[in-house]
Amino acid sequence: MKLKINGTEHELDVDTRTSLLDACRDHLGLTGSKKGCDHGQCGACTMLVNGRRINSCLTLAVMHEGDEITTIEGLGDPGNLHPMQEAFLHHDGFQCGYCTPGQIVSAVGMLGEVSDGWPSHATADVKDGASLSQGEIRERMSGNLCRCSAYPNIVDAIETASA
Ligand code: FES
Repeated sequence: MKLKINGTEHELDVDTRTSLLDACRDHLGLTGSKKGCDHGQCGACTMLVNGRRINSCLTLAVMHEGDEITTIEGLGDPGNLHPMQEAFLHHDGFQCGYCTPGQIVSAVGMLGEVSDGWPSHATADVKDGASLSQGEIRERMSGNLCRCSAYPNIVDAIETASA
């Protein structure tokens, strides 16, 4: 199968029962997306598929031929962070960091749901900011769990990035 991830086309020869998460982590070396529960409950594996958030542990890789897939590795890089990555750093939006890739990708996808101009890559321009209350952010991010309970800083980071 062929998968287009972070703008690069990859050819894979994997079992058709392989999840998108396992295809990325175990076969392509893209280990930024984490496996927390493997049951669609924690959000640590969140990726964007055609700009929409998805729990990549719950979907088969073979179903995504032709889709544009974005993982945390595709949002920015150390010298050119995505605005959401910058905001998480600024607000200490993490403790152990395990959920952080999923939180950031989910936050980017969530803002894309409420604002067409929100970028899925650090080099894109922000055209329209989304202004969400902390309650709206909590509700829209409820699929991403943080066992350290860094929620106040996570919400602050997303609020700052979305303003
Ligand atoms: Fe996919 Fe938890 S690992 S939702």
